[in-house]
Amino acid sequence: MSAPQILATGRCLPDRVVTNEELSKAVDTSDEWVFSRTGIHSRHFCTTETGLDLAVNAARQAMDRARVTAAEIGVCLVGTFTPDHASPSTACLLQRELGLMENTICFDLNAACAGFLYGLHTAHALLADAPRPYALVVGAEVISRVMDHTNRNTCVLFGDGAGAAVVSREEGRSWHTVFGSRGDRSSIRVQGPGPVPSAIHMDGKAVFRFAVEVVEQSIRQLLEKEGLSSVNDLDLVVCHQANARIVDHVAKKLKAREGLFYKNMDRYGNTSAASIPIALDELVQSGVLRPGMRVLTVGFGGGLTWAGALLEW
Ligand code: UT7
Repeated sequence: MSAPQILATGRCLPDRVVTNEELSKAVDTSDEWVFSRTGIHSRHFCTTETGLDLAVNAARQAMDRARVTAAEIGVCLVGTFTPDHASPSTACLLQRELGLMENTICFDLNAACAGFLYGLHTAHALLADAPRPYALVVGAEVISRVMDHTNRNTCVLFGDGAGAAVVSREEGRSWHTVFGSRGDRSSIRVQGPGPVPSAIHMDGKAVFRFAVEVVEQSIRQLLEKEGLSSVNDLDLVVCHQANARIVDHVAKKLKAREGLFYKNMDRYGNTSAASIPIALDELVQSGVLRPGMRVLTVGFGGGLTWAGALLEW
């Protein structure tokens, strides 16, 4: 069996940090409400940066760390629901910025907050027949551009950012995946593109119920596929960073040991497709995530989509 191996990661957050305190001057909210309901204290919003800028910086970091050159990349995928343009894709523009070869397979994919894991799976499959042995998988979002900044139900939840991974295809490694989609348009929807101003519409409670159900189910399915009886047999669990209460709820249901489930939404908010690669990069750079570790990661979001992967780092 072959599996994707993540050789290195990178991340880029826009410079501007926006605290709950600052948002409470624009809408009727408070640091106390936002932090107690979501675990979020602050997030980054783009000012002059584009989604492409974030993707380029994160990708360059990952390529430098992997010591992989532009001439060795055969696949370039960007998970995003907030591309700079409906067309051209961010992946095509990234190809030009990074100097990737013309025959690189480049496209964006939209699986909302599950986008990075959909990208990882797709890149792994494409590498079987790609012109070169390495893939670049990026999650990049500028959600601040599609938010209604006067709606307290959503404007406190999201942040901008990008995370990237350089991936190769390795034989003899174990990896398991789960995927799903429910064809749901009422729980989360983003208007546009088009003349109508974009805005995120979300039934937070419905998404919360969906999230705790599919995250727990995905983890149980992945453990079973790997022949493990407890989540505590893993070294790390990295869930999409939408809400600390979702992560804590699942960790409690699975009787996870303290600290097994990583959380960083306090500083970034929900960065959708970027949240998992940003978290993986933080874990690698801080020395917590090391080669040989067994990592389980799960994304979920609009669609309603979800994806999980259990892999050896
Ligand atoms: O990437 C995946 C996408 N999204 C998610 O995973 C989101 C999942 N859902 C959630 O995280 C939570 O449902 C939210 C954080 C969005 C909301 O938390 P909640 O505990 O479900 O709150 P609620 O929507 O039931 O609102 C409770 C109250 C309401 O007031 P009333 O009707 O009880 O008077 C809201 O109007 O809190 C009010 N409220 C706020 N108050 C202060 C809603 N947003 C705010 C706010 N500040 N920002």
